[in-house]
Amino acid sequence: MSNTVVSLDIGSSKVCVVLAEINKKQFNILGVGTSECKGVKKGIIVDIDSTVEAIQDAVSQAEQMSNREIKSTFVNIPGGYASLYKNKGVIAVSGDNKEIISEDVKRVLQAARVFSVTSDREIIDIIKEQFVVDGYGDIKDPIGMRGVRLEVDVSLVVASCTTVQNIIRSVEKSGLKIDGIVLEPLGTSMVTLSDDEKELGVALVDIGSETTDISVFNKGSLVFTKMIPVGGGHITSDISMVCKISHSDSENLKKQYGVSTSTLVKPEDTVKISALGGKGEKNVSLYEVSQVMEARISEILYLIRDTLEKEDLGESLSAGIVITGGGLFNIKGIQEVAQAHFNVPVRFGYPNFIGVASPMYSASTGIAVYALKNKKTSETLANEFRNDAADEVAVDGDYDLDEQEEKSGIFNRVKEFFTDFF
Ligand SMILES: Nc1ncnc2c1ncn2[C@@H]1O[C@H](COP(=O)(O)OP(=O)(O)OP(=O)(O)O)[C@@H](O)[C@H]1O
Ligand SMILES: [Mg+2]
Repeated sequence: MSNTVVSLDIGSSKVCVVLAEINKKQFNILGVGTSECKGVKKGIIVDIDSTVEAIQDAVSQAEQMSNREIKSTFVNIPGGYASLYKNKGVIAVSGDNKEIISEDVKRVLQAARVFSVTSDREIIDIIKEQFVVDGYGDIKDPIGMRGVRLEVDVSLVVASCTTVQNIIRSVEKSGLKIDGIVLEPLGTSMVTLSDDEKELGVALVDIGSETTDISVFNKGSLVFTKMIPVGGGHITSDISMVCKISHSDSENLKKQYGVSTSTLVKPEDTVKISALGGKGEKNVSLYEVSQVMEARISEILYLIRDTLEKEDLGESLSAGIVITGGGLFNIKGIQEVAQAHFNVPVRFGYPNFIGVASPMYSASTGIAVYALKNKKTSETLANEFRNDAADEVAVDGDYDLDEQEEKSGIFNRVKEFFTDFF
């Protein structure tokens, strides 16, 4: 599987697996699998066994569709469960002719990883922002340049060990190896945002089932990420509670008749739904449903705006707001209602590939693109894992490597992998 990659999105409502390939620079989806998952609450795995079941089901669907065997996968960690810290690495260029080689880049990235974290948290990724050679910055790839002093500015992604361990356990218990853990907004942004938007300043808002992840990109980099615990699932629960119908009927009702403002419905419009307890049918007022939906949608949009304003990020969004995720997907009138809540342009984004052209596939597809764009495929990664383990570079400083070494084998392999994941 040299040009293929598998990605896994463990979401609050469903687990999704995507098997993709790059063929002659063309990104193709070979297989997709989706399975309802009850083991995740607000983006966090709370029941490993049911998550494992959902992963296995989704994997087998993707295998059948692609007629390939899936042995390993990239997996997401939601943006809200990781924190970003700015850090810097500095080294003296080693070669006699002062030409920067890949070993120098590896060393400066190792130096940038020297950072104190509490024992319950772990550095899971390093996002490089810029290299600086002898004081000249904004360099994306310094290899081949000449200089004496090499610096790198990075953002360290730090997550709770428990969250990461539960992800690793669930994936491994499903019978898969982990190729890497990708911070979800980094993946999602690959299929929903343009480079220009990331450069100008844009908020990527992933409204899922139980969570809304707000991530801000500026000057090409992820600068902020926060989760608020609301999503499309709350709209369904509201309908179910107010109209006294089952959860699955409310979900169908929302998908079929969902509107974002009650002005789109006539007060006399009703629909017949089976009453709770199997006692025949009852008339449900679509006007009442629309009022419930309008109230919850307004709340979600208000919370997004409030978060951006509290963080003083409103002014930096020259390219506006891009909404993705299934939470507000396909709800009639949502574009106008969302636009009315913000002073910047709002659009909806989703992966533009055959087989996954829906905002519910933004995270899974995005992680696959992220991995492939970074020239990581299952085969090359497996090799790199082995090589990295063989020539690990020692790091001095605050970061307690001894303590990290005590952690499980896969945990260390994943940690090592991230050091070089560019
Ligand atoms: N056609 C539709 N109309 C309205 N809502 C929809 C539609 N299709 C899906 N949804 C809603 O999208 C939500 C699921 O979205 P998504 O798959 O992005 O969430 P998730 O990734 O599982 O959850 P999270 O990101 O919160 O962990 C559900 O609440 C579902 O009801
Ligand atoms: Mg999601």
